[in-house]
Amino acid sequence: MSIQLKDNSLLKTQAYIDGQWVDGDTGATFEVRNPATGEVLANVASVGADETKRAIDAAEKAMASWKALPAKSRSDILERWYNLMLENQDDLAILMTAEQGKPLFESRGEVMYGASFMKWFAEEGKRVYGDVLPSTADRRSIVIKQPVGVVAAITPWNFPNAMITRKVAPALAVGCAIVLKPAAETPLSALALAELGERAGVPAGLFSVLPSANASAVGGEMTSNPTVKKLTFTGSTGVGKLLIKQCADTVKRTSMELGGNAPVIVFDDADLDKAVAGALTSKYRNSGQTCICANRLLVQDGIYDAFVEKFTAAVKEFRIGNGLEESTTHGPVITEKAVADIHAKVAAAVEQGATVETGGQLSELGSHFYEPTVLTNVTADMPLFKEEIFGPVAPVFKFGTEEEAIAMANDTEFGLASYVYTNDLGRVWRVSEGIDYGMVGVNETAISSEIIPFGGVKESGQGREGSKYGLDDYLETKYICIGGL
Ligand code: SIN
Repeated sequence: MSIQLKDNSLLKTQAYIDGQWVDGDTGATFEVRNPATGEVLANVASVGADETKRAIDAAEKAMASWKALPAKSRSDILERWYNLMLENQDDLAILMTAEQGKPLFESRGEVMYGASFMKWFAEEGKRVYGDVLPSTADRRSIVIKQPVGVVAAITPWNFPNAMITRKVAPALAVGCAIVLKPAAETPLSALALAELGERAGVPAGLFSVLPSANASAVGGEMTSNPTVKKLTFTGSTGVGKLLIKQCADTVKRTSMELGGNAPVIVFDDADLDKAVAGALTSKYRNSGQTCICANRLLVQDGIYDAFVEKFTAAVKEFRIGNGLEESTTHGPVITEKAVADIHAKVAAAVEQGATVETGGQLSELGSHFYEPTVLTNVTADMPLFKEEIFGPVAPVFKFGTEEEAIAMANDTEFGLASYVYTNDLGRVWRVSEGIDYGMVGVNETAISSEIIPFGGVKESGQGREGSKYGLDDYLETKYICIGGL
């Protein structure tokens, strides 16, 4: 294996079930490749339904004593896990860039972001309060919060660390156990997290990691097993809908963080430099492979030409390449199929009359790279208006009035993140309230952190992650009536 870490014991290729590092029952493995080079980084154990069931049984057993601990004791373990993530930040970042492709500076940022959920929920888990309701003389009505039960989590490849900690930390903080299936493209980051969790003192069984090339076997067991009380998923809307259907038979709670189609609305009165900088960061972060990436740049007619000129000039300065090289500003796209899908959307737009300001081609760097692209003369009937692009392509649409901008922003089944650039305070409120999204960034696109409620409306999902609201997704509300006083 060509990955060089300070601590090579963070490189794990077995599944982690009930506190043991194990191969899958059949001995099957799958390849994990570096998307920048195509090199095989590791052959990782591939588990199926039987191993998943064993992990769920172990979780149920482990949870019995875990939920009985004082919140402070659970918090201490999460705090240790947080510190270990910081101590091993460089190794976690190298692993992430090697298997996912994002530039090292983005991976380091993601490790810090991921660790911040450990710290936040270590604290927040101590603040699970109940209520005493207004009562009559002979009775008291009380509300308590209890852990929802064994949680199953399925996480994506675009954030191989933070999307895990954003689920695992709140679940463990309130007393749940959790079994995780990481994306097949990026299991190494998940397994390294499990190793650090073990070192932090997470009891056996409480957190299992199930790498697999057979998503439907693991997902099928997670969604049908009655011991699992909740499923939390980050990924595409299509897969999310399927998982919700599968969870219906056992009426599981679900949290879904699904696809987006984020507009960045830039009004004539906006600060042009700030709008360009914000749109660039949002659009091209992780080479356009985030659910909250700007998908559509909606720019008012008075500022449109100046915006396109500045934005395109900045995109031309990007240096795409292998994320492990410090000079790389933007990495590869995760798979060849993803590159083909991105190019198909661009080609369809060009066919319908779009103008390529820059890019618009497969890159000479190899089959996983796509040239950072800017398109103008784009219209609402093109696929890249309706569909999530999930790649480094920015279509810049023109609008005339505020009403038109709001209508365009809402003309989608998605509703995750949105962004507005304006210096008119009244407009800030009108637009923020008028667009149907779970999150609105005003004059700002870097909106994610552990303290905010991350989540969407419409077909972008349900539930919130991070913040004080993120605990609710792992808690049940119980009403106790004490009568005959
Ligand atoms: C995502 O795109 O799914 C997560 C992005 C973030 O947390 O900032």
